[in-house]
Amino acid sequence: MSTLLLISDNEVLNSLYTVNLKVYTESDLVCYAKIDDAIDHITDPENEVSVVVCLDKIGREDAALIAYSSLLESGLFDIPFYVVGNRGELTEEMDILQDPFDLKNVIGTIAKRLGITAKDMASKSVPDYYPMPIRMFFSLQNVPCQTYIVHEGHFNLIFESGSPVWPKIKSYLDQKVTTLYVPSSMRFEFTKIVTKALREKTNTITRKSPQEEKLEIVQQGIETVAERLFEDEQITQEVIQLSSKCMNIMMDVIDKVPDLKDLIRDLTRNKSGFLYSHSIIAGYVANHVLDNIEWGGESHKEKLKFVLFFHDMHLTSVYKNHSDLEYEESLVFDERLSEEEKEVVISHAAKAAEAIKTYPKCPLGVDSIIRQHHGTTNGMGFATTYKDDISPLAKVLIISEAFTEKLLECLYSGEEVEVSTICSDLKEKYSKHTYVKIIKTLLTIKL
Ligand SMILES: [Fe+2]
Ligand SMILES: [Fe+2]
Repeated sequence: MSTLLLISDNEVLNSLYTVNLKVYTESDLVCYAKIDDAIDHITDPENEVSVVVCLDKIGREDAALIAYSSLLESGLFDIPFYVVGNRGELTEEMDILQDPFDLKNVIGTIAKRLGITAKDMASKSVPDYYPMPIRMFFSLQNVPCQTYIVHEGHFNLIFESGSPVWPKIKSYLDQKVTTLYVPSSMRFEFTKIVTKALREKTNTITRKSPQEEKLEIVQQGIETVAERLFEDEQITQEVIQLSSKCMNIMMDVIDKVPDLKDLIRDLTRNKSGFLYSHSIIAGYVANHVLDNIEWGGESHKEKLKFVLFFHDMHLTSVYKNHSDLEYEESLVFDERLSEEEKEVVISHAAKAAEAIKTYPKCPLGVDSIIRQHHGTTNGMGFATTYKDDISPLAKVLIISEAFTEKLLECLYSGEEVEVSTICSDLKEKYSKHTYVKIIKTLLTIKL
């Protein structure tokens, strides 16, 4: 049996490649996250390596370039070497597999190199898994299908179909697991079952329910609606009902919470991810702005509700593959993201704006606010200068998210939070007077 060697620190990718390459090419795969360890393995005469696949970058290091040069230095010219990712500075002679998640191409290329024909490959069936946020299981009593966890590059079965979700699932959340896997063939069925269960669960939430519980259900709602939006052409009745329930619960929390500390404490306790936490905190901040700016009123809050719930929905597909991602703007430069994922990041505002257009009874203008929520009028990318060509409510959201990011930066680094310092920092970046007016209202926010 031939052995393939993968140099990669991306756990999701390692699992995908291991499973697929094993089945299709009948090869063993060894993975190394450290270049030195990989080189030691290859140069050890005891080991036989038939192909090396290497990420272009690991952390800040040019992994492919370093690994390839070491092989040449050791006189190992014959081992086929593939780079996954961008060519960048790499030399012409190196073979590039540009999109790491284009499995068909990656597997096909390697198989061909190993002399495996398309016909050989067609006769094999591959277990194919789809990532689901762990929270999507919380509203279920029993899992509707086999469920897996990724561990050291392997998919391990943790739930047989029909087995109880609780309390076992709690231990995975406590281990900071954020994503579980279901068979791809069960993907749609699974999200439908979760939608139904969640709708029933939202009915048990009253105004008096604990804030923590409300925050939890809204997060489950956002993640589930996001999955449904990606699979359905149109927003179905049940998705509308679930979203509208969750939006109301969310606004209820934001309206009632005494201060930011209280909100942050509950989000931390729920082990909420960055994407969700920052939207909820920004919601609290934006609500404060609308209460304190002369033009703010109830109709704006109604719009804010939709904007908060839907504006970053497309990013859930990126965050669920990389649970420790944080600030949105930095994603474009994050080496862990594939090109495809970066495209999602760049166009997420435009995509969400298009999706919300089909939502019945959506207040007027919500789509443009969502489109403009990173300061560009077409919803593509992130603005570098913030101008007056966008709607006032989009400016409120931009300032609220920027304020939230500064606040979280302080909290994460253990610094004392000084509202006045955050505000003067913001004034430098958002210097137009319409933005400054919004920033000024934040001087009285309760931390
Ligand atoms: Fe956001
Ligand atoms: Fe965003």
